[in-house]
Amino acid sequence: MDTRSAPLPPGPRYTNPLKFFRELRADPLGFYRRVVAEYGDIGYIDMRPRPQVWTIRPEHYREVLVKNVDRYPKGIAFERLKVIGGNGLFFSEGETWRKNRKLVSRSFTHRALGNLLVHITGAAVDFTDRMAERGGGPAFDIVPEMARVAMDVACRSFFGDDILERAIPLSAALWETAEYADKAMNSLFPPPLWIPTRVNRKTKKALRVMFGTIDDLIEDARRRGETDNVLGKLITAVDNGELSPAELRDEMWTLLNAGHETTATTLGFAFHFLSQHPEMRRRVEAEADALGDRAPTPADVERLEFTNRVVLETLRLLPPAWGTSREAVEDGVVGGYLVPRNAIVQPLFFLTQRHPEFWDHPDDFDPDRFTPERSAGRPPEAFSPFALGSRRCIGERFAILEATLVLATFHQRLEFRLTPGFDIQPGLQGFGPMRALNGIPMTVHNRH
Ligand code: HEM
Repeated sequence: MDTRSAPLPPGPRYTNPLKFFRELRADPLGFYRRVVAEYGDIGYIDMRPRPQVWTIRPEHYREVLVKNVDRYPKGIAFERLKVIGGNGLFFSEGETWRKNRKLVSRSFTHRALGNLLVHITGAAVDFTDRMAERGGGPAFDIVPEMARVAMDVACRSFFGDDILERAIPLSAALWETAEYADKAMNSLFPPPLWIPTRVNRKTKKALRVMFGTIDDLIEDARRRGETDNVLGKLITAVDNGELSPAELRDEMWTLLNAGHETTATTLGFAFHFLSQHPEMRRRVEAEADALGDRAPTPADVERLEFTNRVVLETLRLLPPAWGTSREAVEDGVVGGYLVPRNAIVQPLFFLTQRHPEFWDHPDDFDPDRFTPERSAGRPPEAFSPFALGSRRCIGERFAILEATLVLATFHQRLEFRLTPGFDIQPGLQGFGPMRALNGIPMTVHNRH
């Protein structure tokens, strides 16, 4: 069908754009759940200056994210966030992105990952030791602990040194920018950073901490002269003239930033699911026990099949990256509907991943749905927690390995129990990633 005869998708009409933004901001996940229930898997919101098209269909993801990447770049929504995210892989486009994706990918090949795994297991053992110290004690929120172990893994793997204490303020500073990100994404006219609003002042302070720390860490690594970790390889690229110093800073910031919070959230939710499904937890424990008393090694990863499926099932039910957005740079047709030029296209992974057409009992926690037998016949795009196509997450394998190894190491010795009667609240702060909004209070118990 060509763009002249294709109709617009169905969807709600808003005479007042502020009403739309108010509804969306109050509860983005709930908003999209409602409009999909009312109008269907693809829909259109007639907003000025940019209409929005949502979709939850795997075949549409193929069109937008895989086949026609040039017609659907990341565009305006991502552009506005560069102020805090920098121009690293997550945000860059065109030639800069192509060149730097190639450079950074060298650190995430199968072989390179094998070398990084030792950092993951080191951080996993330290995390388990920290948790063991709290064994038998009162309940505490495990969310900050998840951030700590994921940041530790990222620091050791990407910066190649035990710099966790120096990196912790980065995590806090990143949280301080959440309000700015929310305004940038969900306001008609977000105030530019140079206007000294309360949020902008707070954001600028956080940016100074974030970029200042990254600069210091790069400087230290240069002095140490290591070349076999992610940063070392990129420093070599700077010295060869393949990357500018500013690009190096942006790429390192991106890896640290994109590479820790999402994995931390996944781990927190996985521990939560296991605390609610003792029969599943026992299977994770059995895999952990089969490794013996020693810490898991990279070679053990393949034996942690069920633990790996727990990670996937957690990402299906509660994907930190619950959706993404692209900008249509020309008129196009998706699923027989017109997607007009300028529209923001929003793939909503969190709804596809519970779509009854692709998943039996979609709300149940059932890791075995990821066995090869039960996955046969399901469109692969029905599970897209790392997005798809050439902009797919560069750290996908790394993140899955990390979560699998941390779960296994922990369960060799310990068990988490959720505070009885506590309901976790998976949701968004502003328009950011999915998080456990009211924390995950657990007690730790020695298994042996
Ligand atoms: C469970 C953990 C993770 C999740 C759910 C996740 C999710 C995603 C998603 C959905 C995207 C694509 C965004 C889009 O196209 O709009 C992405 C991109 C990216 N992620 Fe991850 N990610 C995770 C872990 C990591 C880790 C550990 C790293 C670092 C090694 C990382 C680095 C990146 C980078 C650099 C990009 C941009 C890739 C590009 O556009 O070339 N992520 N991630």
